[in-house]
Amino acid sequence: MQFDDRQFRKFLSEQEISDLLDDLAVKINEDYGINDKILLVGVLKGAFLVMADLLRRLHSDVDIEFVRTLTHGKTINSPGTVTMLKDIATDVRGRHVIIVEEIIDSGRTLKFLYDRLKSANPLSIKIATLLDKQSKRVVKVEADYVGKVVDDQFLIGYGLDLEEKCRNLPEIHALKYPN
Ligand code: IMP
Ligand code: MG
Repeated sequence: MQFDDRQFRKFLSEQEISDLLDDLAVKINEDYGINDKILLVGVLKGAFLVMADLLRRLHSDVDIEFVRTLTHGKTINSPGTVTMLKDIATDVRGRHVIIVEEIIDSGRTLKFLYDRLKSANPLSIKIATLLDKQSKRVVKVEADYVGKVVDDQFLIGYGLDLEEKCRNLPEIHALKYPN
């Protein structure tokens, strides 16, 4: 596939994405009871499809919220400070929070969100991600539920964007030659 002069190869088909979500949901359904109150917190924009597809596979009492963050300066020498663009409006006390991401890279976004949500005293807090670029981690943060560990490569589709485009592709594609 070609986009904006850049070549992509298919990385995960719709079926493969669906299988990864099935696996994630099986593990989550094993860990929580039918009556447990789960609050899924999706990280906008990228995680909206994972949220929609994961939600429908869960058996507990599930509510949803979305957050949006902004990372300032991702250059080598910058600290990559994360701030909140949109916060949740639900009280997390008495709920099991699961933060839902489509991909973890440096870990900065999740570390920030994890610490912030944890300080609001949920019953428990965990992290679920479809994809995990574990080798790119800059800060220490580990997901409890990982669909697939991936190498350091640029991915688009299924919510993942290239300059706000390509989120609508039903499959995930990988950039062939970084440029
Ligand atoms: P982190 O704070 O560095 O872990 O950034 C995670 C966020 O960066 C993800 O939620 C994505 O929005 C974005 N991201 C990381 N890797 C990719 C990629 O390969 N394609 C598109 N977006 C990505
Ligand atoms: Mg994201």
